[in-house]
Amino acid sequence: MKVAFLGATKGMGRALARLMAERGDTLFLLGRDLADLEKSGRDLLARAGKGPAGTAPCDLEQPATFAPALDAAEAALGGLDAVVVTAGLFASQEELERDTELLRRLLAVDFSHTVLFCEEARKRLLLRGGGTLCVFSSVAGERGRKPVVLYGAAKAGLTRYLEALDHKYRSQGLRTVCVKPGFVRTSMTAGLQPPPFAGEPEGVARVVLKAIDRGQPVVYAPPIWALVMLAIRWLPRAAMRRIRF
Ligand SMILES: NC(=O)c1ccc[n+]([C@@H]2O[C@H](COP(=O)([O-])OP(=O)(O)OC[C@H]3O[C@@H](n4cnc5c(N)ncnc54)[C@H](OP(=O)(O)O)[C@@H]3O)[C@@H](O)[C@H]2O)c1
Repeated sequence: MKVAFLGATKGMGRALARLMAERGDTLFLLGRDLADLEKSGRDLLARAGKGPAGTAPCDLEQPATFAPALDAAEAALGGLDAVVVTAGLFASQEELERDTELLRRLLAVDFSHTVLFCEEARKRLLLRGGGTLCVFSSVAGERGRKPVVLYGAAKAGLTRYLEALDHKYRSQGLRTVCVKPGFVRTSMTAGLQPPPFAGEPEGVARVVLKAIDRGQPVVYAPPIWALVMLAIRWLPRAAMRRIRF
């Protein structure tokens, strides 16, 4: 599979990119720091015996970088079978309530700019008859929750967008895969107290790769989070007001 990959430098993205390269997929790495991308490329070469087809700058804070980055990926790969977006930004509810500029950046990176990037990817995939668009959202978007009022709102918007893409374009060959990680130990969650059922990036990557291959529209990772969120979705509002989750 020929894959444009945004976010392979760290965490779940790095684990998923390694797994894809190891099984023979050809990756083109997108990210905001070219030196980091080169380092990730060397890591993939060492692990899979096959480095990426190239790298290009793509910063979710700068929408002007999106089209050139995907054009470069398409040219180097000779077409795209899949676009994967694991890049995202997290900050605590307290930080976001305090810092309006950080809030503006997070809402852009996790919602509006990710949607703009996906629109560029969607058009390119549809032009060649379809493909897979796999994007990391979050369980934080499942229900309005006190600890993630703002981050959760961005991810809820992203989840709805991906759901609607799947409804509208599946018949034209676009397979949208919305990944909803629960708590996973990565640099994003460093310093936070892991809840029960916390996962590791490598386990998440295995679950996500299966979902990509099946074209599964929604995937919880680790899978136990599907049950956790089922329970949370059913909790009455009065209970949501009382609990801290
Ligand atoms: N970890 C969790 O518990 C958890 C739970 C639910 C959902 N998620 C979501 O899952 C995804 C992956 O999370 P993770 O934990 O693996 O995160 P991570 O380890 O912090 O990695 C985040 C990735 O996003 C990239 N990135 C950040 N800002 C960017 C920007 N402006 N432009 C381009 N790339 C940017 C980073 O690139 P640099 O190397 O340049 O920083 C890095 O590759 C995110 O969307 C996150 O919101 C995570």
